Amino acid sequence: MQEPNYPESYWVESAKRIESDNSIESQKIETVIVGAGITGITLAYLLVQEGVKVALIDADRIIHGTTGHTTAKITAQHGLIYDKMINQSGIEKASLYYKANNEALQFIADTIQKHEISCDFSRQDAYVYTNMDEYFDKIMLEHRAYEKLGITGDVVKELPISIDAKLGIMMKNQAQFHPVKYLNKLVEAFVSRGGILLENTPVADIENDEHPKVILKNGGQIEANKLVLATHYPFYDWPGLYFARLHAERSYVVAAKSTKPYAGGMYINAESPTRSIRYTPLNEGENLLLIGGETHKTGQGESTLSHYEKLVEFTKNNFGIEEISYRWSAQDLVTLDDIPYVGHITADEPNIYVATGYAKWGMTNGTAAARVIRDLILDKQNDFVDLYTPSRFDANPSIKNVIVQNADVAKQLIKGKLEAPDKTIEDIANSEGAAVMINGERAGCYKDEEGQIYLVDTTCTHIGCEVKWNSGDRSWDCPCHGSRFSYKGEVMEGPATEPLRRIDLD
Ligand code: FES
Repeated sequence: MQEPNYPESYWVESAKRIESDNSIESQKIETVIVGAGITGITLAYLLVQEGVKVALIDADRIIHGTTGHTTAKITAQHGLIYDKMINQSGIEKASLYYKANNEALQFIADTIQKHEISCDFSRQDAYVYTNMDEYFDKIMLEHRAYEKLGITGDVVKELPISIDAKLGIMMKNQAQFHPVKYLNKLVEAFVSRGGILLENTPVADIENDEHPKVILKNGGQIEANKLVLATHYPFYDWPGLYFARLHAERSYVVAAKSTKPYAGGMYINAESPTRSIRYTPLNEGENLLLIGGETHKTGQGESTLSHYEKLVEFTKNNFGIEEISYRWSAQDLVTLDDIPYVGHITADEPNIYVATGYAKWGMTNGTAAARVIRDLILDKQNDFVDLYTPSRFDANPSIKNVIVQNADVAKQLIKGKLEAPDKTIEDIANSEGAAVMINGERAGCYKDEEGQIYLVDTTCTHIGCEVKWNSGDRSWDCPCHGSRFSYKGEVMEGPATEPLRRIDLD
């Protein structure tokens, strides 16, 4: 049977594959890190340099989740965030947030220089721009916030590239790179110092007695002095009620060879729908233009294929298209106050750490998170512990947001149960999927290119919302907390840890 072609990212496709031997001698390790994206790998790299024995494990291949599907901008300019953060959390926290991300950028630059990593790193100015008059005040307020925080930047009336923009704000001297090439080198350094790398090793459960114990789906178990969940969504989410204070968003990227020259720089607009723009160099002097955006809550909104189509249209109108070479999508998690949760998973569990909620800005926030957790584990001073601590709950908007977010979950849960699909299996064409009615019951149906039928129970195994078909990525996505499942029902993204129930057509 021919498998459907899932979109894959340029980063994953164009970097060499690091092999792991998937063996572990001891059932007890000083530190276990679950999740091999930018946070897990950077932390593993940092800890082995301090002489800590570390096992880094991933349910899939390394750098295959959000880190492998990012736009890979390394910047402290996270949209229009600083004026909002000053008002919401105070100038001290806003200043620490900028400092944490700026130091992370510098750490990446220094590490690249130290190991002479060839990863298409280059310094670029970053811009937030707008075409809507109602955003002019926000741009000016952001500029005032830059001045208060000592950020080097300026208001601009036109951009170096030829796209429509009425006003923008520039942050100087940010950067971009190829994340997989960069992290591959850190993995090599980690393994060469005795680090243990276990790929394709999903975790079934965590037990937390005197020390945390990781129960693997392959039947093994590893006891750790310290356990770090760098899994994007913390699948051990009940103790800290993370499902009630995170929401998942999806966004899309098309990578195109364009017909017009590109003047450099990294761009994102202030309004919706989001348009994020950068380039990456290819061999022989060519560039690949990366156009991202079309952000929406996971499992909600219009047909996911249409998001790619809109990005292609934008690319064609502004840059001209010679060829669309790649397209991919990514999932991001957003916290209640836009500041990631990094630190002890709860105040009562000193040996389990979490890092999540980077809201699309994972290159710097993920690196900062790794440095915070390293210092917590080694009992060293770190200025950013209080900023990122998941135990904080002092921002008033957080209270409002938790109500709004969970009202949305309740709405999605009820809506999904009331909706009766109006399709049957016969209505589904090859390579398409949808919820259908079979013998009076709801089921998820996908037909592959050859007409083979895959049926699943559409009840999400996390808390029971009804999953929706994602036509762009051919997956079943949950609108409540963002779990995603393959057309066969396998877990692709948590918090769900169990697959969707397969339904036998007979
Ligand atoms: Fe929570 Fe589906 S992810 S119910």
